[in-house]
Amino acid sequence: MQRKILVTSALPYANGSIHLGHMVEYIQTDIWVRFQKMRGHECHYVCADDAHGTPIMLRAQNEGISPEQLISDVSKEHQADFADFAIDFDNYHSTHSDENRALASQIYLANRDAGHIEARTISQAYDPEKEMFLPDRFIRGECPKCGAADQYGDNCEACGATYEPTELKNPVSAVSGATPITKESEHYFFKLGDFEKTLQEWTHSDHLQPEVTRKLGEWFDSGLQDWDISRDAPYFGFEIPDTDNKFFYVWMDAPIGYLASFKNYCEREGIDFNEFMKPDSDTEMVHFIGKDIIYFHALFWPAMLEGAGFRQPDNIYAHGFLTVDGKKMSKSRGTFIKARTYLDHLNPEYLRYYFAAKLGNGIDDIDLSLEDFQTRINADLVGKVVNIASRCAGFISKRFDGKLTDTLTEPGLFTDFSNQAEAIAKRYEAREFGQAMREIMALADRANVYIDEMKPWVLAKEEGKEDEVQAICSMGINLFRVLIAYLKPVLPRTAEQAEAFLNIEPLQWSDIATPLLGHQINKFKPLMTRIEQDRLDAIVSDSKEAMAAEQKPKAKTEQAKGIDPIADEIQFDDFAKIDLRIAKIVNAEHVEGADKLLKLTLDIGLDEKQVFAGIKSAYAPEDLVGKLTVMVANLAPRKMRFGLSEGMVLAAGPGGKDLFILSPDDGAQPGMRVK
Ligand code: 2FM
Ligand code: ZN
Repeated sequence: MQRKILVTSALPYANGSIHLGHMVEYIQTDIWVRFQKMRGHECHYVCADDAHGTPIMLRAQNEGISPEQLISDVSKEHQADFADFAIDFDNYHSTHSDENRALASQIYLANRDAGHIEARTISQAYDPEKEMFLPDRFIRGECPKCGAADQYGDNCEACGATYEPTELKNPVSAVSGATPITKESEHYFFKLGDFEKTLQEWTHSDHLQPEVTRKLGEWFDSGLQDWDISRDAPYFGFEIPDTDNKFFYVWMDAPIGYLASFKNYCEREGIDFNEFMKPDSDTEMVHFIGKDIIYFHALFWPAMLEGAGFRQPDNIYAHGFLTVDGKKMSKSRGTFIKARTYLDHLNPEYLRYYFAAKLGNGIDDIDLSLEDFQTRINADLVGKVVNIASRCAGFISKRFDGKLTDTLTEPGLFTDFSNQAEAIAKRYEAREFGQAMREIMALADRANVYIDEMKPWVLAKEEGKEDEVQAICSMGINLFRVLIAYLKPVLPRTAEQAEAFLNIEPLQWSDIATPLLGHQINKFKPLMTRIEQDRLDAIVSDSKEAMAAEQKPKAKTEQAKGIDPIADEIQFDDFAKIDLRIAKIVNAEHVEGADKLLKLTLDIGLDEKQVFAGIKSAYAPEDLVGKLTVMVANLAPRKMRFGLSEGMVLAAGPGGKDLFILSPDDGAQPGMRVK
């Protein structure tokens, strides 16, 4: 029976690049979708950029562009990355779209009218300078448990404690640096608890992986909390109907974005959207997600859909995270690899195969070990699969005009291969891709053993063995074709090239059982080359460079303007150590033998300090006496050629005659702390 399946991958945020961690999910989903399509099912794979929320709004402001411009630029980048990894979305849309606005309103209003939304006033951190409420991530301060400086508003990276942002000591807004105040505002809550009974049932009815159901059990035990779905202006998102300047929280309209993208596609392609959305639909809806967003997908999402009278998802398939060489991806080690950096150096199908070989149906993390990656691609794809064709193709084209034999010389061997079709299909269906790859490679080994034993290259030199050579190589090509069909969901481009070489129509699963007989093939071109070490080294070093460049985003513009680039980033702690004071220059004199230095005596209220300052090009000593400057008061004294220097004075300007210190007396007093 032909199934109708709507498939989604999680929507990537529109404020950052796609990296290999993301690719685990898109590759996993794409393989599954391609498999379904090869089986003849009607399968629609949609995605979109997740375009709303505070980080996107602030990033656009920082870049001096509109959020619409930002999300449009990022969407282009994302789509190019996906296309180059052969991720074959049927539609790629945006949550900032008309369809999403309409669907979000519809789903919200239906839930509101059914009594599932409640308004309540809550207190939150507010940035009085920037005039905005601050999400937890945008409040920094000292951890209330261990005192570590510069921690996020909700958890401490040093000791792992979680807390409320109001508990942070000395909090500051990461947006403006202002001290946040607490302010009240009315928020809208989705009453998740209303759905407890149906959610309990739904989460225990084979829609989820067993380990996910177990995890949800813990959340049910601790009680389903109401969910705050509103945010105050300024916010980049959709205004909530019938409210004044309240916006849907990004996570409210994000999953609705799946439906919006699908709707946009249905309208273009003439597909019946409602057939897929009605509660008793015969169609399937399947979401692939990372294990970090299970709560949103397995609780809020089915509840929102139910409250709005829509169908429920059939399956939510969660996967684990990607580690590289056994560790979290790291910017400094060069293992935080962007999709584009990988694509600059290697064939995307290598990664598709490697991830497939590592993926199971659980939520364990998967590791990209660079050495293992290289070994496996070279051994499996180049050494086993492609090798079969390259060992047989030459004989067929040179000696037999590209013609395969009319019968199979080893029909039993061919049937052994094609009989695996259902077993391998089951593996794909169950997302047991690693197991599927192992079974396919075991067949590839058998094909190579067959050719090794038959030695067509030896027979080719003997007289009267022509027919045997043609028969063996035709067998080899037929076995290769079955393997390529099995691998096609994983290696779509290689399969396409192989189809061109085999001179056949795009392979479907149902073609596998029928061998190619008496058939004309084309000249063989190498399908893949080995991974050389220098490609991997280049990926790591480019990743390091890309991250360093990102940490100095403004350096280029500044250099272009003739200003020194910003130095390496320091932590707030480093900065806080510097004690800057207003100092009054009480004496200034020339230094015998020094071209640039003046000897200054500075009054900093409590104390007098002697400092040698390189500002002679701009000031005569007599001009300085009585003026104010800013000094680094706690710099360790340094012994210089002319005496001890007990600090530094700050002056601004390009140098030469243009160096400026403070003008006398605009309210500053010696000893005042500079902030
Ligand atoms: O975690 C994330 O990256 C989110 N942008 C995923 C959203 S998935 C769906 F709900 F839209
Ligand atoms: Zn801490």
